[in-house]
Amino acid sequence: MTAEELLERADAAAANAYAPYSEYQVGAAVLARDGRVFAAANVENAAYPLGICAERAAIAKAASEGLKPGGVEAIAITASPCGGCRQWLHEWRFERVWFRRADGSVAEYAADDLLPDTWDLPS
Ligand code: THU
Repeated sequence: MTAEELLERADAAAANAYAPYSEYQVGAAVLARDGRVFAAANVENAAYPLGICAERAAIAKAASEGLKPGGVEAIAITASPCGGCRQWLHEWRFERVWFRRADGSVAEYAADDLLPDTWDLPS
């Protein structure tokens, strides 16, 4: 699946965002290795910090259907991922992270390039 195709799925999900406070709609679409796509939008809450980003909602949706880190291939996001979401992208080991920059161009990174020297739980 191309970046454009997965971004289309993210755009469609963004239209369902529940974002009455920021009015900023974000969508994300996770491509699993078996070809399934899990798309989600940001969901805000009146207790602001409790809101969830689109990326985390999409990963939670994939996880709820049995996916594990490494079982995912790519994620497309309608905007640049925040710092907290980058930690999630790292944990889920996305090979490709595509997102739309503010100027409309599409960025491609490996998850680990978005968060150098990542913190990991000491083993
Ligand atoms: N948001 C996301 O969904 N993903 C990000 O990576 C950045 C921010 C959402 C959270 C909130 O609902 C809105 O954008 C404004 O911050």
